[in-house]
Amino acid sequence: MTPVSEDCVVGILTEILAIECGFGSTSKQIRVAATLHDVGKQYIPAHIRDKPDRLTPDEYELMKSHTKFGHDLLCCFEGTLGEYAQTVALYHHENWANDGGYWGVPACTLPPYVGMVSLCDVLCGLVYPRVYKPAWSQEQALQYIRSKAGTQFCPKMTARLIKTVRDTDFFRRWCCDIPTQAV
Ligand SMILES: [Fe+2]
Ligand SMILES: [Fe+2]
Repeated sequence: MTPVSEDCVVGILTEILAIECGFGSTSKQIRVAATLHDVGKQYIPAHIRDKPDRLTPDEYELMKSHTKFGHDLLCCFEGTLGEYAQTVALYHHENWANDGGYWGVPACTLPPYVGMVSLCDVLCGLVYPRVYKPAWSQEQALQYIRSKAGTQFCPKMTARLIKTVRDTDFFRRWCCDIPTQAV
């Protein structure tokens, strides 16, 4: 089986969550928006994007700008897809109920699909390895997102995502490139 890229996995998982949350046919547009959420990262120098250590304040500011680069790039899409993709690109690092995110906008005030992408993005980021951390097991990652329900993530969506991932054994099915001992 050919590995699916992490951003595609974020898209697939977000679409499943959107369907379960009753978004119907717009779930497909939400998947495309989710898959493209980090498209602006291509403009961030690799030594900052992949830095294993903590970013300096200046590097952090530059890293934040991947959301604006992505938003501007996705202005080429029109209609619902354009609206979803631009909004997700710009706000996918916001927190649900407080202002600890990139731009200080509580995600509970944004369209709900933005919070869905944030949730699936963080979950996938934990399950996949990074230069600064090993891959977490599916269960470890689910426990983490549960601990952030109500602050970083919408509690209802978090509960639904945890159930879906467990019921479908999602990461074992879709992510054959993650070290098997982690999943
Ligand atoms: Fe991002
Ligand atoms: Fe991401």
